[in-house]
Amino acid sequence: MNIANIRKDYRKATLDAGSVDQNPFQQFHKWFGEALNAEVTEPNAMNLATVNEHGTPSARMVLLKGLENDRFVFYTNYQSRKGKELEKNPACALTFFWPELERQVRIEGVAARIPTERSDEYFRSRPRESQLGAWASPQSGLIDNRRILEERFAQIEKKFEGMEVLPRPHQWGGYEVDPHVIEFWQGGPGRLHDRIQYVKVDGQWKIYRLAP
Ligand SMILES: Cc1cc2nc3c(=O)[nH]c(=O)nc-3n(C[C@H](O)[C@H](O)[C@H](O)COP(=O)(O)O)c2cc1C
Repeated sequence: MNIANIRKDYRKATLDAGSVDQNPFQQFHKWFGEALNAEVTEPNAMNLATVNEHGTPSARMVLLKGLENDRFVFYTNYQSRKGKELEKNPACALTFFWPELERQVRIEGVAARIPTERSDEYFRSRPRESQLGAWASPQSGLIDNRRILEERFAQIEKKFEGMEVLPRPHQWGGYEVDPHVIEFWQGGPGRLHDRIQYVKVDGQWKIYRLAP
């Protein structure tokens, strides 16, 4: 297999500054709805890029769990690598890729912890197994083998046996990303893709077209 020979031509749709919503969040809702309708696999999966104090970037997937007050919300372990990096440097970037629609959305913003009550509320809504997992996993820490993790899970399960509502581990909760740049990318033929970028300037969203 020659990886260099893998290529795809994009022809599904076009995008223009005149036809997008003036509000990037409305535009996001429109595209997200279309991703749902197209039955994109994990439409709320997004890549989160963070930067540590030395300027070294790292990226991983997380799940969008809400778009509240114009902020993109996800949940994680505050002691994880991403959590520690965001505490020191809240600047981050999110990227969605919806291949079935030949679309990408890029977001740049600043992350902040959401209020603890909102994290509590979401934690309560999760399946018990995920709640136990959040207690059992020291996310991003080194562990010798899987057995240790399974033992921790079993211990936690025992500890909370008979307790209907599990408390939220204090190191687990949500972040909300307040964006200042949002770009909508629609694949086009001949690599002439459409890129419409919204930039927040003095509280107002300006709309630009970027070269592909
Ligand atoms: C599709 C997908 C969704 C994920 N969603 C989350 C999530 O919402 N929160 C989370 O902490 N990790 C999530 N993960 C795991 C992260 O990618 C990552 O492995 C973990 O958070 C540790 O990252 P870190 O060590 O850089 O902090 C997801 C992974 C995949 C593949």
